[in-house]
Amino acid sequence: MKALIIEKKDTKPVYHDAKVTDLPKPETLEENQALLEISAVSFNHRELWIRKGQYPGIVFGSIMGADGVGRIVDVKGGSKFKVGDRVVVNPSTGWIKDPRGPEEAYYILGGTHAGGVMAEYYVAPQEEIFKAPDHLTDAEAAALPLAGLTAYRAVFTKGQVAKGQNVLITGIGGGVALLALAFSVSAGANVYVSSSDEEKIQKAIRLGAKGGVNYKDEKWGDNLQKIAGGEFFDVVIDSAGGDAFKTYTKILRAGGIVATYGMATKPVIEVSMAAVLKNIELRGSTMGSRLEFEQMLDYVSKHKLRPVVSNVWQGLESADEAFEMMKSGKQFGKLVLSLKASSKL
Ligand SMILES: NC(=O)c1ccc[n+]([C@@H]2O[C@H](COP(=O)([O-])OP(=O)(O)OC[C@H]3O[C@@H](n4cnc5c(N)ncnc54)[C@H](OP(=O)(O)O)[C@@H]3O)[C@@H](O)[C@H]2O)c1
Repeated sequence: MKALIIEKKDTKPVYHDAKVTDLPKPETLEENQALLEISAVSFNHRELWIRKGQYPGIVFGSIMGADGVGRIVDVKGGSKFKVGDRVVVNPSTGWIKDPRGPEEAYYILGGTHAGGVMAEYYVAPQEEIFKAPDHLTDAEAAALPLAGLTAYRAVFTKGQVAKGQNVLITGIGGGVALLALAFSVSAGANVYVSSSDEEKIQKAIRLGAKGGVNYKDEKWGDNLQKIAGGEFFDVVIDSAGGDAFKTYTKILRAGGIVATYGMATKPVIEVSMAAVLKNIELRGSTMGSRLEFEQMLDYVSKHKLRPVVSNVWQGLESADEAFEMMKSGKQFGKLVLSLKASSKL
């Protein structure tokens, strides 16, 4: 089978290879495993961090990718699944249900000790796969797992977003941010966004945001409060980190929450005494447990939500086009590879 692997390359600056290679197709299953024929996979920013050598626990030679959808072509034991079922894979292992954090050794799939899904076939333990929401195309289903899980935990478990609240989602062009927008809008919140790009703000408004500001404008905090009618914010769902926290402290109401799942600007947040005196809570947020993954899929099915897919390319060989797009930051939503041409179903 064809697979996309991470291969060490000694360049400066570091940029390891993402290489399509031939590997043996898995032939035998252990009890409780399922063999999936993968029909689509999607990228997350972490694949770029891995290529740049800026990600912990990289295992060279391993298959990349945490996000995939496929059909079951073989199954051993269990009664939950049958051949032909369309399933998505939980993008991490070792975190069952504890809302505080992983109970066991925790791995995100792809490029690490837990091999990834960017291959024509993938063997999964049955407890780590779930029926893909029926209303989604393969590209949309592939776009959902990691970004959906991260957004679900940041919005609901950590951000506690609820109806009528004012919510800011930063960097709306990102895959996670766009799903956070869908979750927050469907929960009845008044959602505002920030972006480096006016066109992305307009697209977010078409998806239900009330408005947005350009985070490159020094006065973005004032601009935001102006378009929100002078009101304070209840929650910020953040991927920027760095100095933006100073502005969050100003625009949040007392007891406001910042749920931070990434630090695109710099990997430090300074919490001032002003934030302490305002009872502001900074909550780190990551992907999530298997239970949250299942809850996220149920939520997406119930509200018929659709992840925004920016681009779909054909075949693993197109991976570099996705990496170039991610580097440029031009995408609005998720970057997907369709593997369907090789599908026998
Ligand atoms: N903690 C976790 O488990 C977890 C899980 C997933 C992702 N992450 C992290 O979250 C971040 C986003 O991931 P992704 O996969 O959604 O990335 P992505 O699809 O590549 O999007 C990145 C987005 O970051 C935004 N951005 C860049 N500079 C910014 C700034 N100064 N202020 C605000 N936003 C800024 C951009 O928004 P505009 O284009 O709108 O300007 C861009 O679209 C990455 O840092 C990633 O490592 C963490």
